[in-house]
Amino acid sequence: MTEGGTRRVKGAPRVLVADDDATVVASLRVLLSQAGYEVSVAEDAESALARASVERIDLVLQDMNFSRQTSGEEGLALLEELRRQDPELPVILMTAWGSIDLAVAGMKLGAVDFVSKPWSNPHLLASVATALALSAVAESEEADPRREELDERLDLEGLIGRDPEFLRVLALVGRVAATDASVLITGESGTGKELIAAAVHANSRRRQAPFVKVNLGGISSTLFESEMFGHVRGAFTDARRDREGRFALAEGGTIFLDEIGEVDPSSQVKLLRVLQDRTYEVLGSSQPRAADVRVVSATNADLPQRVRQGQFREDLLYRLNLIAVRLPPLRDRRDDIPLLTHHILAGAAERYAVAPPEVTASGLTWLRRQAWPGNVRQLVQTLERAVLVLGERPLDAAALESLQIGESTRSDDVPRPGRMTLSEVERRMIVESLRHYDGNLTRVAEALGLSRQALYRRLEKYGLSPDDMEGDRPVGSSTLEPR
Ligand SMILES: Nc1ncnc2c1ncn2[C@@H]1O[C@H](COP(=O)(O)OP(=O)(O)OP(=O)(O)O)[C@@H](O)[C@H]1O
Ligand SMILES: [Mg+2]
Repeated sequence: MTEGGTRRVKGAPRVLVADDDATVVASLRVLLSQAGYEVSVAEDAESALARASVERIDLVLQDMNFSRQTSGEEGLALLEELRRQDPELPVILMTAWGSIDLAVAGMKLGAVDFVSKPWSNPHLLASVATALALSAVAESEEADPRREELDERLDLEGLIGRDPEFLRVLALVGRVAATDASVLITGESGTGKELIAAAVHANSRRRQAPFVKVNLGGISSTLFESEMFGHVRGAFTDARRDREGRFALAEGGTIFLDEIGEVDPSSQVKLLRVLQDRTYEVLGSSQPRAADVRVVSATNADLPQRVRQGQFREDLLYRLNLIAVRLPPLRDRRDDIPLLTHHILAGAAERYAVAPPEVTASGLTWLRRQAWPGNVRQLVQTLERAVLVLGERPLDAAALESLQIGESTRSDDVPRPGRMTLSEVERRMIVESLRHYDGNLTRVAEALGLSRQALYRRLEKYGLSPDDMEGDRPVGSSTLEPR
């Protein structure tokens, strides 16, 4: 961690316990000092603020139901004041069981986490350790990390890119990997969320333990519990034998909850419970099991919006995104396209046992100009197809364009809005039809629902001639098969 940070001073971190309940204070004091922390205590809001302003406090553990007021108003006011006094000071809230609304209100005001009373000691200590690690992370933030420097200390294999925003993402991954904090990765489809999730695991102390991916979009609500938590034989009619759940498979390691936005409300509650208490029950057994699992999730959905629409639980969102990693779309990091292109072509060429094709200047310009709504995945698909279809032939703009035309007719989709004008679509449709019907204008006109005259007018408009299509056809499209 950097020298001269505002908070990081040598020695044990100091935790301020702000609670008016003497028995709670006493047990927290024992728990925290045994775990190696210095402990300060404040029994009312005023002294909490005073201590936080004069002492070197690294973290506050704050009761929300101060002075036995049940509304929590006073607790929120204290939190607000603490945050105003020092926006960097991490505050963990302690809330009575069931007062989730209050906890969520506190998270909105900037609390880093909340723990329900009665608390579990290991969970509370984990929360404190994570919050302290994260505040150290925030302090060590680099403005402009360099790729070479990141590669020296991190395992970032397969993550190509030098774009400044992308490098900041990688640096963040490096800093948070060491903590146990939940990470939520967002970004459009194909931006590399799964690769980033794997990198979080690969750079954590859990790297030797399993990385278990769960596609939540593919799990029905009826099977959710049995999939995630497992079941014992006889738990339900079809449970003929014991089954390990995904959390058990990920024990000691990382669970990657992909497509987290797809989880239905009843499953959201079940997920919240395990994230909150770090325990779960195997279906058909009443023994709670502790989960030592780091949670990384990903989505291309707008979760805050889903929360506003009442489709996603706000408390679950706060549990998931202690750390938020946002991946830029490819169109915002076009300077990475040449690097990515060479990396992808090398991989594809190896797989298809050909030499990587050369990319001409016009080819690179073409690649940089595309909108890439499907981001890196679409670039991968385009280039794989190029190698497959064109083999070792150089990739220039014309070759890439011809592939693209083939591509768009292979799917039933129309181009995404903003990607092409109507004339461009029309032109491509005509080119593709000419190709398909080998320049037979009668059949082309018929297929396009045009009279021959109307087709001629359009050929003229677009400067096309049936003969142009000769010799420009993709070659050997069936000579190479993927994998
Ligand atoms: N920075 C990168 N360097 C190299 N390859 C990348 C990079 N980002 C993404 N890719 C590649 O792009 C493809 C898509 O990546 P990934 O599956 O991680 O995307 P995603 O964000 O999870 O997409 P989706 O939301 O559709 O699940 C993969 O083949 C991956 O290897
Ligand atoms: Mg994905």
